[in-house]
Amino acid sequence: MNTAKVAAAKAALSHIEEGSILGVGTGSTVNCFIDALAESGIRLSGAVASSVATAERLTAIGVDVLDLNTTGTLDLYVDGADESNPMLELIKGGGAALTREKIIAGASKRFVCIADDSKQVDVLGAFPVPVEVIPMARSFAARELLKLGCDPEYREGVITDNGNIILDCHGFHISDPKGLEQSANAIPGIVTVGLFALRPADELIVGYADGRTETHLPRA
Ligand code: A5P
Repeated sequence: MNTAKVAAAKAALSHIEEGSILGVGTGSTVNCFIDALAESGIRLSGAVASSVATAERLTAIGVDVLDLNTTGTLDLYVDGADESNPMLELIKGGGAALTREKIIAGASKRFVCIADDSKQVDVLGAFPVPVEVIPMARSFAARELLKLGCDPEYREGVITDNGNIILDCHGFHISDPKGLEQSANAIPGIVTVGLFALRPADELIVGYADGRTETHLPRA
């Protein structure tokens, strides 16, 4: 058990309204959150899942998994991150679920990010930026991403829940996360770039190995 992830996950429970429909992300920290949700006894009207894996976990604890097309805007989305800067701009997609994560984040009034303290950085980019790409565009998108200043690497053996591939972009110098997100999104064949800067988190709950948590709001 990772105490830091569990601490952050448990702290997010206080944001949940009884009877609400919750957006739920993907990854090991979110798995801790789903476990904590099961233990909490909080009753939900349902949840929207950002991946097949999360949908299966939610179903296993008795939560109804709903189609976002039927729920309208969600009040709350809870998800992890691979990196967060002080503006709560994120790199996400280490688990290849970035597209559905970005959809749910965009469709939610509030995005609470849960993470262990290793995820906090001053400048994004040490973690390679995942990019979901339509398979036929793999080589073309990689050449275009190279021009934006990174070294794209094909993630072998991974097909996303949407049937696409992932390029992990190493070495980006990300001084303008919003600008880079827009430039990468504009490349034909790219479905989603794993930069969450245009829609950052609203709150970051950081967990520590000793069980403490800290809550951060975006730095102005
Ligand atoms: C999934 O695609 C990602 O965006 C995850 O949210 C991110 O990789 C964090 O994962 P962990 O909670 O496993 O570190």
